[in-house]
Amino acid sequence: MGAILEIADLKQLARRRVPKMFFDYADSGSWSETTYRANSEEFRQIKLRQRVAVDISERSLKTALLGQETAMPVALAPVGLTGMQHADGEILAARAAADFGVPFSMSMFSICSIETVAQATKRPFWFQLYMMRDRGFVGDIIDRAKAAGCSALVATVDLQMLGQRHKDLRNRLSAPPRLTPKHIWQVVTRPAWAFEMLRCKNRTFGNVVGHAKGVSDLSSLSAWTAEQLDLSLSWKDIEWVKQRWGGPMIVKGILDVRDGQSAIDCGADAISVSNHGGRQLDGAPSSISVLPEIVDALGSKVEIHMDGGVRSGQDVLKALCLGAKGVHIGRAYIFGLGAMGQAGVKHALEIIAKELDMTMALCGERNVTELSELNLYFGTRPGRTAGVLAALGEEYA
Ligand SMILES: Cc1cc2nc3c(=O)[nH]c(=O)nc-3n(C[C@H](O)[C@H](O)[C@H](O)COP(=O)(O)O)c2cc1C
Repeated sequence: MGAILEIADLKQLARRRVPKMFFDYADSGSWSETTYRANSEEFRQIKLRQRVAVDISERSLKTALLGQETAMPVALAPVGLTGMQHADGEILAARAAADFGVPFSMSMFSICSIETVAQATKRPFWFQLYMMRDRGFVGDIIDRAKAAGCSALVATVDLQMLGQRHKDLRNRLSAPPRLTPKHIWQVVTRPAWAFEMLRCKNRTFGNVVGHAKGVSDLSSLSAWTAEQLDLSLSWKDIEWVKQRWGGPMIVKGILDVRDGQSAIDCGADAISVSNHGGRQLDGAPSSISVLPEIVDALGSKVEIHMDGGVRSGQDVLKALCLGAKGVHIGRAYIFGLGAMGQAGVKHALEIIAKELDMTMALCGERNVTELSELNLYFGTRPGRTAGVLAALGEEYA
């Protein structure tokens, strides 16, 4: 493999280093994967407005998310089983994020526990929660996140029923892997991964095993998860979560203005426009395509974040231009982690920062907080474009 210049290079490396079942787990969406693909494809359709002869010698990517300073408007999204992409994956990703100065979100379905990651890193991270039927467990895990110094809670509301991902079913995915000839083969053909995994202690769901009632090993865990995702989840529960947590809360998985409003009514400090990376409702629109209507309706009331399909700094810039305050990346850093551990996550962040900075400069902008729709090129397409063209008209006048 030659120079690593873009996220696609990290993906290629990850494919060679991570056992197939875990690589596929990351690189998949539900059913036909239409929404998964649309998330990235629809970024490519958005064009940028080039400006020249602007002094771009001083530039800044710095901003604040939920009142916390960040080196750029990017956060690492919660990704379950991160510790199966690379041994101690959550610790390595959290460290890379802390060194870079961006937030790391830890999935409730992580391999390393909240406490293990908190001990191994200095910068507070965000904790992501799924609502389970056992409210005792949910209350305890919120308290554990608080005790570990987590600085925000990400309440994910779009996965009370698991979307069907064909690759995972075909691969008979589990963590740690099953001991069938097929699974053993997938592991032994990735010796560096296997060696690191043998050396580390964290190989099962650290936030759940030993904490949820009756869950002491892997088989009891699968049964617990299957029966525990709470199909009766309602906004009242999210209100309860906010009260129990008492700190900044992001409600993640919003694609409809009405749901965004409900999240605000429950006390959300931010909402994340997300379709779970195309892993839940296949056929839902791409996140970037619904972002503008949600920003129009709710942008003055709440901080708006988004995720889904972001594979470059250009994608980050486009989301910022359309009104996102923060952009979360999932697979872009997971491929880096699978490829090269902590160095790979750092590399992914550096690639994105460089692309964001160069794109901003070539659009004639100096500060990432000042980007707007005026930096996008809509051609002569009608609709939303009219307002932008009118604004440009004023600017030119
Ligand atoms: C392998 C994988 C596991 C994920 N696990 C979780 C999770 O545990 N909790 C959660 O809220 N979102 C989870 N997500 C969704 C991400 O937080 C995020 O919404 C998505 O990855 C964004 O799309 P992108 O990967 O194209 O950037 C997961 C995504 C992937 C790819």
